[in-house]
Amino acid sequence: VADDGYRLWLKYDLVQDNGLRKDYQKAAGFIAGSGNSPILQTAATELQQGLQGLLGKNVPVVTGAEKKKGGILFSVDATANVSGQPLGKDGYHIAAQNGNLVITGKTDAGVLYGVFALLRQLQTRQSIKNLELTSTPRIQYRLLNHWDNPNGTVERGYAGSSIWKWYELPERLDPRYQDYARANASIGINGVVINNVNASARYLTPEYIEKVAALAGVMRPYGIRVYMSVLWAAPKVIGGLSTSDPLDPKVKQWWTDRTNEIYKAIPDFGGFLVKANSEGEPGPQDYGRDHADGANMLADALGQHDGLVMWRAFVYKANSNGDRFKEAYAEFKPLDGRFKPKTLVQVKNGPIDFQSREPFHPLFGAMPRTPLVLEVQLTQEYLGFATHMVYLAPMFKETLDGDTYANGKGSTVAKVVDGSVDNHSISGIAGVANIGSDRNWTGHPMGQANWYAFGRLAWDHTLSSQAIAEEWTRMSLTNDAPAVRTIADVMVKSRDIYVRYTTPLGLHHIMGQSIHYGPEPWLASSARPDWTSVYYHKADAAGLGFDRTAKGSNALSLYKPEAQQLWNDPKTCPPDYLLWFHHVGWNQELSTGRTLWNELCTRYYTGVDSVTWMQQQWAAVKPQIDPELHADVTGRLQTQHKEALWWRDACVLYFQTHAKQPIPAPFAPPT
Ligand code: GCU
Repeated sequence: VADDGYRLWLKYDLVQDNGLRKDYQKAAGFIAGSGNSPILQTAATELQQGLQGLLGKNVPVVTGAEKKKGGILFSVDATANVSGQPLGKDGYHIAAQNGNLVITGKTDAGVLYGVFALLRQLQTRQSIKNLELTSTPRIQYRLLNHWDNPNGTVERGYAGSSIWKWYELPERLDPRYQDYARANASIGINGVVINNVNASARYLTPEYIEKVAALAGVMRPYGIRVYMSVLWAAPKVIGGLSTSDPLDPKVKQWWTDRTNEIYKAIPDFGGFLVKANSEGEPGPQDYGRDHADGANMLADALGQHDGLVMWRAFVYKANSNGDRFKEAYAEFKPLDGRFKPKTLVQVKNGPIDFQSREPFHPLFGAMPRTPLVLEVQLTQEYLGFATHMVYLAPMFKETLDGDTYANGKGSTVAKVVDGSVDNHSISGIAGVANIGSDRNWTGHPMGQANWYAFGRLAWDHTLSSQAIAEEWTRMSLTNDAPAVRTIADVMVKSRDIYVRYTTPLGLHHIMGQSIHYGPEPWLASSARPDWTSVYYHKADAAGLGFDRTAKGSNALSLYKPEAQQLWNDPKTCPPDYLLWFHHVGWNQELSTGRTLWNELCTRYYTGVDSVTWMQQQWAAVKPQIDPELHADVTGRLQTQHKEALWWRDACVLYFQTHAKQPIPAPFAPPT
């Protein structure tokens, strides 16, 4: 059977190595659950299903296995501890005990995550002799954000239409919903915001609440809660009120009533995500109130229900003539301390908008009294849609590992987000989904790795990009060790390669207008100055780059002094970030030994060459990969190469009109 990518990393193909399979079989004589809650039932079914494929045998689920040996036991123990340390909530411990393999969780979900961890050992062909695994998620709320609309389109989605079939719900439940839930649970994702942040008010109508409740019913046995994005103006749009002012009693009552209605239908509803006063969306500022007034009103509406408000910090005022980099900080930093409990502020990884490389957002470390949700984008809006192969884990890690110095050295973004820097009891991370109705879910088959990597890093941000790439490759493509190495190597380098042929040296926001695809560095006028390219690259006869030092916009001052140190001197600023912070002369010599112009050309040209290298590496693993999938990726790589040339030529020729220098050897085209 050709692999059409539908099964993602849950393929469970038979273990071919007889010795290894026998070892596994010996350990998996039976499965004994410790109760029959829906989540534990899921755990048993998932384990049975996985083992059926991997071992080619039906492993029975038994009861009363106390005296039996040679099986896999579930144990839910709220007081469980490992080596004297209490096991974290939703964590798992897997170890041999009295001749059985015991998966212990403090919660039912912990057992479910343990089951997937055990299956992963088998899927990646690890030995299970003396197996002992312990893991607890570092971040509590691990969410996908769908930018899906009621009409079935997906904003910035490149994998077909929405997987939610609103017109069929609640009566028909597409089997795909369950497959989606399985995939998420297997990587620890425990929440999904089902609709676009540019939200329709419809989701708050009784008709849609019923539909969302049906989806919640599918997710629940997988430990996943559903959340909604809400339109701030809903009280006016569907509530018949004349205002949406958060301090108006009628507005408060309206939200309280809506919230109660939602919880009646969905008792474990997760909460609200809000994009307000951003890119034309309505918000509390329309009534002279601020973001905290809005968020707190919703928190009050949630009242005693166990729900969160996630309020997005992606804001920038219309017609800004300053530096967009600084705007979210200017609006949100003063609100630190004003947000009620269970209200989180959701911040994109960088200050502009999901560019292929951004310095970490200056709000991280600047709002110690507010739990911040890190928002990253899995859908490749600015990273080549579903055409370019770009493995995003290295990009996520770059943000997570960024040191804010908020509380001294080592106050990384990861530790701000997981709550450890400021001792927050709640923590969250969100990935804007790259999932659609395409048979293989993500359009580009390798895009699945970004969904996977997001879940794995949300669970444990200390995992390496390399380890996650190898794990995913083994589970999804092949267990052939040399091929795994080759593919993981291409994956890990792919993001840097993309940056080189599109936006090297810290260039940003020079892509095609509105569509956000392909190069358009010459774009000089648009509805807003910060929707052009020249606003960001500032190329002129002297040089290139946005001066964000004290001589320029001074955005650098938003960071702690030790963090500024990394970037504030053009001589020592890492070249990858140079043009984010400095306007550099064309003939200025960089730390690489080349002038800016020569380095720029070098990166564009070698970036394209590296795509050729990716093609060669991919060709070399052909025998190990399913033919259909291999051909699919081969075709996409061809397009990627063509478009890398397009980016290179467009950008080099455009910047040359400012630099007025020849393209250096050995890249110069023959005359
Ligand atoms: C980007 C994207 C929009 C989206 C926005 C957001 O600007 O292009 O489509 O709505 O981000 O995150 O709110």
